[in-house]
Amino acid sequence: MNASEVPGTNGVPGRFSTMTKTGQVSKSVKPWPRKAAVFGASGGIGRALCEALAEGGCETIYAGSRSGEGPEGGAIRPFAFDLASEASIAAAADVMRSDPPEWIICATGVLTLPDGTGPERTYKRLDPAVMAQVFALNTIGPAMVAKHMLALMPRGEPSLFAALSARVGSISDNRLGGWHSYRASKSALNMLLKNFALEMARTHPESVIVGLHPGTVDSALSAPFQTGLPDGQLTPPRQAAKNLLAVLAGLGPEQSGRVFDFRGAEVEP
Ligand SMILES: NC(=O)c1ccc[n+]([C@@H]2O[C@H](COP(=O)([O-])OP(=O)(O)OC[C@H]3O[C@@H](n4cnc5c(N)ncnc54)[C@H](OP(=O)(O)O)[C@@H]3O)[C@@H](O)[C@H]2O)c1
Repeated sequence: MNASEVPGTNGVPGRFSTMTKTGQVSKSVKPWPRKAAVFGASGGIGRALCEALAEGGCETIYAGSRSGEGPEGGAIRPFAFDLASEASIAAAADVMRSDPPEWIICATGVLTLPDGTGPERTYKRLDPAVMAQVFALNTIGPAMVAKHMLALMPRGEPSLFAALSARVGSISDNRLGGWHSYRASKSALNMLLKNFALEMARTHPESVIVGLHPGTVDSALSAPFQTGLPDGQLTPPRQAAKNLLAVLAGLGPEQSGRVFDFRGAEVEP
């Protein structure tokens, strides 16, 4: 699967192949969403996701950010929320209750905290307050988004919830160590996504809940860590968004609970 396969670029629902558990491809049709919600629409990847969804013909895009400002366009419905406030997430979900989105993407996350504290390179730098803040934003916040948004999903109809995770949250793939709180917060997020997928499958057999690794994307989050990257390894947000949407469009319930990278390959737990 590649970025050129982003569906619905002419506003028509796309036809896609779905990967099976073994990575083979089975035929299925997943309609491009008519309505979507992006939490984190002010971020590098979140903004690009909103724009790509709009370009693909999505009619309504609920675009959430702390400021309530995000990308502009006729399809965009801005809303405000803060990951640190469950009440604000509940209020946002309430606005969408009568006309819920088919796709929900949580594109929020932090690597460096707002006060400038960066990821720890050694256990000696661990600070419980910093760890708590990273977990609050990268794990608990998206979990609260899931709590309030999954409750809107109709039974018996396809629905999709994706959260931006990171390959560094994979325990089996961890060869370098470091970035303790960030890595662990993403591992914990992946576990919650798996749990939600198992739970939702009992009542919503057509639901898909996944984590996504976007690659190294040129954004405020990655900016302090871009030096020394091999040529071609920094993906523009627009390309990253197209990659991720193409991956999402190819997923079915049999892939729920797993984490996929921007090429559609599974990131092993
Ligand atoms: N960029 C990469 O190379 C890369 C690689 C792997 C994984 N990821 C993951 O991709 C996701 C998006 O990253 P990005 O590169 O787009 O980063 P970004 O440009 O820094 O965007 C981060 C987003 O998170 C939001 N956010 C932070 N704190 C919040 C809070 N308290 N309440 C509500 N929203 C809050 C930001 O909103 P404000 O504008 O209000 O701060 C912003 O919309 C993250 O989960 C990241 O871990 C990125």
